[in-house]
Amino acid sequence: MHPKAMAASAGPAATVNLNRALWQKGDFAEIAAFMRQSGEALVESLGIVPPLRAMDLGCGDGTTALPLARLGADVTGIDLTPSMVEAGNRRAAAAGLTRLKFCEGDACDLLGVEDNTFDLSLSVFGAMFAPRPFDAAREMVRVTKPGGRVVMGNWIPGDPTFVSELLKVSSAFTPPPPEGFVSPMTWGVESHIIERFGRAGVARERISMVKDTYYFAHPEKTPADFIDLFERFYGPTMVAVEAAQKAGKAQLLHEQLVELANAHNKSQAGTFIPAAFLRVTVTV
Ligand SMILES: C[S@@+](CC[C@H](N)C(=O)[O-])C[C@H]1O[C@@H](n2cnc3c(N)ncnc32)[C@H](O)[C@@H]1O
Repeated sequence: MHPKAMAASAGPAATVNLNRALWQKGDFAEIAAFMRQSGEALVESLGIVPPLRAMDLGCGDGTTALPLARLGADVTGIDLTPSMVEAGNRRAAAAGLTRLKFCEGDACDLLGVEDNTFDLSLSVFGAMFAPRPFDAAREMVRVTKPGGRVVMGNWIPGDPTFVSELLKVSSAFTPPPPEGFVSPMTWGVESHIIERFGRAGVARERISMVKDTYYFAHPEKTPADFIDLFERFYGPTMVAVEAAQKAGKAQLLHEQLVELANAHNKSQAGTFIPAAFLRVTVTV
């Protein structure tokens, strides 16, 4: 039996541990450096009017948490990965943002966070990776004040843009996931979103879903440099690279990823790669 399948037979805790291991393996901050502009634009579009208490869940090193705080919100960034929490707190201190703090937490169980705490619960490509999506939906709704908003950014399965295709290429080289694993990409499917928030008590009419675009941008680094970072620092791609190395296919995977990034790049000198995502807004 494949080791991952063995882990699965140990029960739901196995998928939780895999989730943690996947993100602790890499250093998402290296990728996040390409996402700052889009993070700021997304936050700008939220119409933040202080005073406002916001949570950024699966916040990484603060791509959206810092702009939220700059607009005057009191922000709690929550992430599963300790190194992201440390990096976020360092960035907040360097920027002099005293109303922004980062702490460790799991989207499936926001231990220690009271009910009805936040006006805005934001999660940009964060909570979608939690292994128990119904629990994540319930927790985001629970900690949001009545009348407040949950806003999620989720990648879309089968979309012909960069991240979906990157994950598709990577998964072709990765061993099958353990039994009971729910693909994070299901958070990009409307029927699943409605079902998950429905079970958390949210009516269909209070959920809006629109397609939007994120950009991975760097003025000097090439798409090949960008793929190099994915291979060295992005957990899901690192897993694919390890499996491809064992199968003697690492070069093939690398070539496919570079070709993909080049095909989607819109910049002559550096990197500017658009990727579609589903923007979900839930009024609690
Ligand atoms: C793709 S990164 C996105 C980070 C950030 N939101 C951004 O846009 O730059 C995913 C983040 O979700 C975090 N994460 C994964 N599973 C999580 C969970 N169950 N609970 C909280 N955070 C989680 C990871 O540690 C990682 O920092």
